[in-house]
Amino acid sequence: MTSGDTAPFVLPGPSPARETLAGWQHWRLTRRSFVPAPAMDLAAWRLLSPKKKTLHDLHRAATHANLPLLTTPMSRSVERLLNGRIESNALKLKPATRAGVMVSGGGYQGKTESVCEVTAAFEDRWLALHQHLNPDAAPGCRDLHAPVAYVQTPVTAKPKSTCKAILNFYDTPVSARMDLPELIHQVAASLRDHGTKVLILDDITRLRMHRADDQDTLDLIRAFMSMHVTLVLIGVDIPGSGLLREGRHDAATGQWHLPASRHAKIHGLEATQTERRFDLVELDRFRYDTAPQIAAWLQHLCGVQAGLRLLDAPENMLTTGTMPEYLFQRTNGVVGLLERLIEDGCREAIATGLERLTEGLLEDLSIDLSHAPHRDPAAGEIPDVPTNRTARGTRRGRNTVFDDRGPAAAGAS
Ligand SMILES: Nc1ncnc2c1ncn2[C@@H]1O[C@H](COP(=O)(O)OP(=O)(O)OP(=O)(O)O)[C@@H](O)[C@H]1O
Ligand SMILES: [Mg+2]
Repeated sequence: MTSGDTAPFVLPGPSPARETLAGWQHWRLTRRSFVPAPAMDLAAWRLLSPKKKTLHDLHRAATHANLPLLTTPMSRSVERLLNGRIESNALKLKPATRAGVMVSGGGYQGKTESVCEVTAAFEDRWLALHQHLNPDAAPGCRDLHAPVAYVQTPVTAKPKSTCKAILNFYDTPVSARMDLPELIHQVAASLRDHGTKVLILDDITRLRMHRADDQDTLDLIRAFMSMHVTLVLIGVDIPGSGLLREGRHDAATGQWHLPASRHAKIHGLEATQTERRFDLVELDRFRYDTAPQIAAWLQHLCGVQAGLRLLDAPENMLTTGTMPEYLFQRTNGVVGLLERLIEDGCREAIATGLERLTEGLLEDLSIDLSHAPHRDPAAGEIPDVPTNRTARGTRRGRNTVFDDRGPAAAGAS
């Protein structure tokens, strides 16, 4: 749309905390509800009343802060594996333990968002199936059905704090006097009572495997696999973390086999000592070496570009000339860093009135992740950020060709 139609726009509320059942459900149900600002060019924007201009600019800023999750070749392979495991495990009637999935990759590469999206979509389908097969089941109890539980590993994870984080998801009261066996039983009961099929433990590599407690925590994780759920573990560089230290790779199936848990037997979760099986999938960053890799990066940039609402953006702003290579150099092909650079760039482009992204404009911005919330630098969750040329001391003259052309610079004319 290039006409002067603005769109009604509701300011987003506080971002939902997915680590609680209520927050997860809220996020799942609203995750696709953001409506981006309508596309508009400079001429159409100039025709708006001052009030509509302000509202539209606010809507554009919100659009750039809520860029959609795009399917990438890497997220597609995680999705394929995760979906296969979750669905076949969820349909399994036998009491046998379910194979788990580990999703590994560098920080900011989209592990959390990709897994949450795949599992939320599974939950949508699973609930629809229940509704379809048995629409009158358990009236009034629907809130208690939680097919997916999302839990973040505490920064200094220990067996008891890991159990408490899971119970906190369900808002299950925990008494300070509960010992580990009681907590484990409570976790098993909560998973069962809520019909949970998938238990996600995010940032699992916060358990650095050299503390005395860590063996115990690892043992506990294997006990969770006896609770008839698909256990999904997400972490930075899982193979290098020590988490697989006792594991054995099976070349025939590609799976990792981990020894059985002491806890599961001690706490009566199962009678036998079966090995635990995990698929390990790597969510990589984009690469820029071969023609197919460059094509995939260009396709991603094309998707990002379609979400932007700058008023004077040339067609293919991110995908032509040296821009794709420049963006790759600035971000190492890490989707989260690209998102940050583009969001900051758009804010700058609107503030200066340039209303387009250029290498000159991006050159003046540095990506600062030092205050990133919910990330543990010690667990590798903050990736290395390539510096801009300016920071490397090879500053070029800034491209000022377009500097004073946009509406913010020219005033609301
Ligand atoms: N496929 C994608 N398309 C567009 N943006 C994405 C995609 N995947 C992730 N992002 C964005 O990148 C940012 C980082 O993603 P996410 O938090 O999932 O990374 P992570 O790998 O879990 O990082 P960490 O190891 O620090 O926990 C998020 O803001 C997210 O919106
Ligand atoms: Mg994450």
